[in-house]
Amino acid sequence: MPEADDKANVTRNYGIGIPVETEGFFLKASNNLDWGMKDRLSRIFNPKTGHTVMLAFDHGYIMGPTSGLERLDLSVNPLVPYADVLMCTRGALRAVIPPDSGKPVCLRCSAGATVLKELSNEVVGVAIEDAVRLNASAITVQAYIGGEHERETIGNLCKIINAGNRYGIPTLAVTAVGREMARDARYLSLACRVCAEVGAHFVKTYFCAEDFEKVTASCPIPCVIAGGKKIPELDALQMARNAIDQGAHGVDMGRNIFQADDPVAMLKAVRAVVHDGEPAEKALDLYQTLKSEKG
Ligand code: R5P
Repeated sequence: MPEADDKANVTRNYGIGIPVETEGFFLKASNNLDWGMKDRLSRIFNPKTGHTVMLAFDHGYIMGPTSGLERLDLSVNPLVPYADVLMCTRGALRAVIPPDSGKPVCLRCSAGATVLKELSNEVVGVAIEDAVRLNASAITVQAYIGGEHERETIGNLCKIINAGNRYGIPTLAVTAVGREMARDARYLSLACRVCAEVGAHFVKTYFCAEDFEKVTASCPIPCVIAGGKKIPELDALQMARNAIDQGAHGVDMGRNIFQADDPVAMLKAVRAVVHDGEPAEKALDLYQTLKSEKG
């Protein structure tokens, strides 16, 4: 039992006249969220730079053993120390990711479709209790805006937002572009805005060469960009540079990292762009230097 306060010998400091500071939260759209949400978002977005480099390796849930991810343990584990966030399925997480890596996880919660059939025909495949059990820092499904199963996939998104809100886990909405949709600013702004309005906490979109500012400006929550298919390293770094300069809060990149000749060097080069503000050319120099050092 604590000793009773000896009132006579205690100098009290109530700080009368000093208002309690109420600081704003660093991340767009997140100031009015609860403590747990903010704590998790601070693991995803670096409070110093406001940005994130998420490593996406969830492709297998629709594509099977994607090139570069045949052996998840060999390809992903060397990258883990350099990623801010791991975006993956619970199967991959439990199978290969060391639980002591200390990395926040953005847990892929959709299932039900593969590249062999209609991709938008998804369901929510992960119970929120399993996301809690895995200590997920965010949960995610995709919304096929304009796709065949638009209604169901927006419904899936709402379901996980509601479930995540109960436990203080933020939701990443992935805007999935149907095969017939143009990836232009008009479509992407619509898709991102819909995801924000139904309550997602951040959104993953594609970059578009024209008017990407329109996408980020008209989306009230933070946007991160997917990398898409493998392109030359300089182009991928330039895309990341342009996206950040035009209002993106980071990248959620997969193939352009794990399919690079030197994935660790590429991840470090992407970090140089996203967190250190480096131009794409300088980041490419870093990539080539790191790659040549390995021989
Ligand atoms: C696709 O299944 C996932 O949402 C990926 O996480 C996303 O497309 C990002 O990966 P990539 O940079 O390879 O497009």
